[in-house]
Amino acid sequence: MIGALRSTVGVVSVGAALPERVVSNEEISRRVDTSDAWIVERTGIHERRVAADDEFVADLGARAAEQALDRSGLAPADIDLVVCATTSPDNFFPAAAVTIAERVGCHSAGAYDLAAACSGFSYAVAQAVSQLQSGLAQHALVVGSDTLTKVIDPDDRGTCILFGDGAGAVVLAAGAGPETTVGVELGADGSGAEHLFVRALAPGGKFMEMNGREVFKFGARVMVDSIERVTRACGLAPADVDWIVPHQANRRIIDHAVKKLGVEPDRVLMNLDRYANTSAGSIPIALEEAWADGRVQRGQSVLMIGFGGGLTWGSCLLPWAGNGPDGGPA
Ligand code: UT7
Repeated sequence: MIGALRSTVGVVSVGAALPERVVSNEEISRRVDTSDAWIVERTGIHERRVAADDEFVADLGARAAEQALDRSGLAPADIDLVVCATTSPDNFFPAAAVTIAERVGCHSAGAYDLAAACSGFSYAVAQAVSQLQSGLAQHALVVGSDTLTKVIDPDDRGTCILFGDGAGAVVLAAGAGPETTVGVELGADGSGAEHLFVRALAPGGKFMEMNGREVFKFGARVMVDSIERVTRACGLAPADVDWIVPHQANRRIIDHAVKKLGVEPDRVLMNLDRYANTSAGSIPIALEEAWADGRVQRGQSVLMIGFGGGLTWGSCLLPWAGNGPDGGPA
């Protein structure tokens, strides 16, 4: 699915929540046959955050959501829709989004989870944009939260080095700013399902299984293709975008895209060195960091691009329409 439309929908605020516990490459290399040097060279990751045993997707998601909501200047009752992108929820049901809505006081919102693995945040933003654009909702809270370390075999060096836990959230609003072109591209290729999965009720192991090389090739390809397609649909070139916020999977995948697309590296947000791949959380966590240090400013365009299990991918291009970190206009 691909499309672009003139819209007043924009991002008005962002929040993030990370577990306290830091796990270094060195700590991992005490358990499995790997090394800090190998992990840094092949992925760019130095450390990640790992949720406590009693800390789940809804806990991190609610913290991120509360921060985004506070920064939006809206009341919880103003939120019409809470969507939580996750593929590691605490429960099959109730949805994590319902727990999050309850904790942050969004009692008049519809709330549901959306499962598209590491593309989940892009998918959830696309959903929210559609509902805001149609007039069904005025304000939406979109959360990306995952605790994939809970479904990773700590003895599998192919996966345990790559993932961390965390959550991010944005508030999107209709009428948030002047009309701009908003673009979305979503894709799914189930023929690649075997390359990255975690079983639920189906018989088999309880841990993530991944063919790293295949996912790497897929990620490198779709990151470039999807950014090209969504920008073209909006009548832009990739270099015209102010901020590209890629899923934080592997530094080499992002570097490849930067080179292929001819975009300025400092316009592409990256924080995987400290948080690794937090799945549906990675895009809003990176956006939050760039907003908090004043880089992302009102009126600038933000292109979020995710890819992962499914295999799926998703890009959303929309404006930052909120205040800066000092509370005043950015
Ligand atoms: O959201 C999407 C989630 N998934 C991803 O984004 C994963 C994308 N894939 C990757 O990031 C990379 O494929 C990995 C980081 C997982 C692996 O890096 P790679 O450069 O593709 O390594 P490789 O699988 O081609 O393996 C190269 C060598 C192999 O040894 P031999 O056969 O050449 O002797 C592996 O056995 O590196 C070995 N190896 C390791 N060595 C030390 C694989 N994992 C490790 C490790 N430490 N953790």
